[in-house]
Amino acid sequence: MERTFIMLKPDAVQRGLIGQIIARFEAKGLKLVGMKLKRVDRALAEAHYAEHRGKGFFEPTVNYIMSSPVVAMVWEGKNAVAAARELMGATNPAAAAPGSVRGSYGIDISRNVVHGSDSPASAEREIGLYFRPEEVLSYTKAGEDWLS
Ligand code: TYD
Ligand code: MG
Repeated sequence: MERTFIMLKPDAVQRGLIGQIIARFEAKGLKLVGMKLKRVDRALAEAHYAEHRGKGFFEPTVNYIMSSPVVAMVWEGKNAVAAARELMGATNPAAAAPGSVRGSYGIDISRNVVHGSDSPASAEREIGLYFRPEEVLSYTKAGEDWLS
């Protein structure tokens, strides 16, 4: 089953949106298999956004995700990466579909509420940055047989 790495960014934590956003991923039918409230240090922030090193938004984005604890999560399900990106909406909340997480809760690209992996390979890399293997759980969840 495919896994994706989702992070509720500092603005989501500070604005008290953790529960509302998690509820959307649960309601979609994805399964939560890993979760922690975590402070991101510079080394982790730079590793997370390594593909963007050298771009103008790299340093501000790194500082932003270090600015408050974040909620790091692993969600599992059919096409979990694409399903989560669809739920999240476009990178720029101003352009994100109104019902999406970024479209609902964001207004500025530099405070866009949530991170989600952009491919299964990115998901594997990002899960490895934030979680030890034993912190990602396998379990059966009541009702999941109704999702296939
Ligand atoms: P990116 O990986 O392109 O977007 P996504 O988070 O949708 O995968 O960019 C990483 C983060 O960098 C993005 O969530 C917000 C920030 N960012 C900016 O602040 N300005 C920009 O112009 C871009 C492209 C991204
Ligand atoms: Mg990205």
